[in-house]
This record gives sequence, C-alpha cells and structure tokens, in this order.
Amino acid sequence: MKHFISIHDITVDQFEKLMILTEKLKKEQKMGVPHPVLAGKSLGMIFTKSSTRTRVSFEVGMVQLGGYPMFLSSTDIQLGRGETIYDTAKVLSRYLDGIMIRTFSHQDVLDLAKFGSIPIINGLTDDEHPCQAMADLFTIYEHKKTLKGLKLAYVGDGNNVAHSLLHACAKAGMDIAVASPEGFTCNERIVQEAKEDAKLTGSTITITSDPLEAVKNADAVYADTWVSMGQETEKAARIKIFMPYQVNAPLMQHAKPDAIFLHCLPAYRGYEVTEDIIDGPQSAIFDEAENRLHAQKAVMATLLEVRS
Ligand code: CP
Ligand code: NVA
Repeated sequence: MKHFISIHDITVDQFEKLMILTEKLKKEQKMGVPHPVLAGKSLGMIFTKSSTRTRVSFEVGMVQLGGYPMFLSSTDIQLGRGETIYDTAKVLSRYLDGIMIRTFSHQDVLDLAKFGSIPIINGLTDDEHPCQAMADLFTIYEHKKTLKGLKLAYVGDGNNVAHSLLHACAKAGMDIAVASPEGFTCNERIVQEAKEDAKLTGSTITITSDPLEAVKNADAVYADTWVSMGQETEKAARIKIFMPYQVNAPLMQHAKPDAIFLHCLPAYRGYEVTEDIIDGPQSAIFDEAENRLHAQKAVMATLLEVRS
C-alpha cells in the first residue's frame, strides 16, 4: 500500500489487515498502552474544505502515534493562491513523511500522489471519502461482530460517502443497497468497480430508487446530508427532491429490528434523518465518529511506519 486514496485500490487482504489494526490500536488506546510507531514522522494535513471530525481525528491520531501533524489550510498555503499541485507535491515531499488532503477535485489528490514521493491519504474529495467508510465498517463490525453476509442500506445522495461505502462493502463481503432519486445516483464507474470486487468476496451491490427496497432486512441504515460541501446553492431544490428519502421511523421498520443507524456527520435533523432515529437507541453515530480516529491511525501507521 503506497497511498490511501480509494478503497478500490487496496486488496481484500489489505482491507482486512486495516480492520484488525484498527481494533488493536483502539484496544491499546483504551487500555492506555502507548504506540508511538510514527515517532519522528510528520504529516501535512491540507484542507480546502471545512472539517471537524477529519481534522481533529487525524491531528490527535498522529500525536497518539508519536508523530507530528501539521494543519495546512488552503487559505494560508500558496496552493490557495494558485501554486500548482506539481510544485506543492515536489516541495512538501522534501519536508513531510505523508500528506492527508481534503479537497474538491479527486484528480488533484491523484496528481499529488503522482508528482510527490510520499504517501497521500484522501480525507474526502467530491468523489470519495475512504477514511469515513473504513470507520463505518469498523463500527458495524464492533456492533455486529462480523461484516460478511450483512446488509448495509444507504439512502440518499449517490455522493462521495456512498461511493466509498460501495467500495468498502464490496471488499468486506457485505451486501449494500443504495437508494437515490433519479439524477442523483452513484457514479457508474464506481458501481462497476464495486461489482468487480463483490465478485471476489461474494457480496451483492444493489442500486435502486426505492428506499423501502434498500432498507428491507438491512443490518445497518446509513444517511448523509443532501447538500454536500460545494452544493450550497442547490439546497432548496435538493431538499424537495430528497424528502422521500428521509430516514425516519416508518422507513426503519423495514430494516432488521436490531439494525443500527449510521451517519458520517455533520447531520441535519429533520432533513436526511429524523431526530427520533439519529438520537434514538439504534443510532451508533458517536461510536462511528470516534472510530474515525482509530481507523485513520491504522491507515497512517500502515503507510508511514515502513518508510524511513
Ligand atoms: N464525517 C466527516 O468527514 O466530518 P468532517 O467534515 O467534520 O470532517
Ligand atoms: N457528503 C458530505 C460528507 C461530509 C463529511 C460532503 O461531501 O459534504
């Protein structure tokens, strides 16, 4: 594993190893066992979009691994004033041991990896949010003790979060059903990638416009905002289109009685999910948010530890 840009790029074996390492690091952290495996290493964290969870969990995670995290807002660094990705990649590769980047264009992240010589971690692009999906599946694993053969239902926009969940479920051997309104379905290339991986692990990928079909017998039900970062001007139109895709009590009735509810957060109560569900007994959102820390520590340790 050189980079962590898309879950599709990692093997089933690498996916499983990351899950196992996540569990180990979480256990150690809870028991107060230090694990400074990245002592002396530095991680640059470039953000051109807002963040609460990603910033804090990467920053704290790097400290817990004994390394040094450096927050690089695009409004402060020269990238935000037009310096090229090429020059940025070349220069930062001379100082840092790895870069985590959250930005709009997925291609910019691929270019950073292409032109630089250090590991690149995707902290969210318009197309994918792989760190989120690792934490999500780890959360399901903690709650259900397995992943293989379970069903995840994602209801809403076929966006970055949905894409990475497709990739992750396929690697994990989990069935996934995504219900989105017409015109907001997942990217066809990503669906095909997930289908390829699903053949290896024996899982199924279902793309539908029917939330009931998606949620039927699900072990976990997932919602994300209807208005992702960068889509603020479309807010009014999107709310109208997505209202039938709200995760609420009548919809949750179609999932298994012990189904958990997940949301990457930030959440907008009364829109993509009702308060009774997100704040109710089925919700695992804060375990999920916490697991960003542990899952990303596994990614950082895997990518940066082997380098000298
Ligand atoms: N889920 C997630 O990535 O949250 P932030 O935008 O707060 O980082
Ligand atoms: N789909 C959302 C996820 C936020 C973590 C967005 O891109 O804004």
